Amino acid sequence: MDKTLDGKKLADMLNSELTDKINKTFKETGTRPGLATILVGQNTASQVYVNIKHKTCAQVGLKSIKIELDENISKDNLIQVIYDLNKRTDIHGILLQLPLPSNLRPDTPLFLGEISFHKDVDGFHPINRGKLFDYDESLAPCTPKGIIALLEHYDVELKGKDVTIINRSNLLGKPLFLMLLKRDATVSVCHTSTKNIERYMKQADILILGVGKPRFVTGDTIKEGSIIIDAGINRVEGKLCGDVDFDDVIDKCSKITPVPGGVGPLTVSFLLQNTYFAFLKQLKLV
Ligand code: GUN
Repeated sequence: MDKTLDGKKLADMLNSELTDKINKTFKETGTRPGLATILVGQNTASQVYVNIKHKTCAQVGLKSIKIELDENISKDNLIQVIYDLNKRTDIHGILLQLPLPSNLRPDTPLFLGEISFHKDVDGFHPINRGKLFDYDESLAPCTPKGIIALLEHYDVELKGKDVTIINRSNLLGKPLFLMLLKRDATVSVCHTSTKNIERYMKQADILILGVGKPRFVTGDTIKEGSIIIDAGINRVEGKLCGDVDFDDVIDKCSKITPVPGGVGPLTVSFLLQNTYFAFLKQLKLV
């Protein structure tokens, strides 16, 4: 039996459906959704991610512009760039790629709060975070949205399930916690100060993690028949891998995401979905 939760395949399907929707609204309105990314500095991984986002935008017929800024840009100038994008009527989504360079990083919440919440396709603005608290996922973070879509696509029951998340970030663990709670799962969120983390891993019907440590999860740390969602991205000897020792857990788990080809493509897909939703909202089409 194939145990793979194929994120790439689902993302391709969603992107193809989105292409049709974008073409249809283009015929009706003469406008295409527009996404702007802002990349500050020279972080190589961020450059790769941003390029993938633009490539996928082009595939689905979404207009995208890339703004690349020097890492020494002042706080005020970065805010001005955001304001200019907030005002542009051809730009419906704005993404400030994280992490910011160390000099600007402490002000990350300030910059995220300056992006118009209507254009906040990352779901990081305090208003959109607050909406998620009320289970409104319309502009919610893309990686958790992708994980939920993947589980739902494969008909994984969430109600009453014990789910362990190992990650407490604003990008993954915190929003995912709310999305799983909404779907009646019982959720444990683990982090660096969690005592006896193996206990939480072993009790999980569904284990979701992004810790940045290759082989953090092995066969003897999971429950028999559990579902593993690996949102880790690591590079070992030039090869991309997740946080799970795939070969060691494959016999014991019932389903698992590969890395690459699992969560990653869905994050991009939901960025485009969010941009399309923001576009429809701004044109008062929904
Ligand atoms: N850096 C890593 N993942 C993300 C993401 O989903 N959005 C942004 N803005 N930055 C990121």
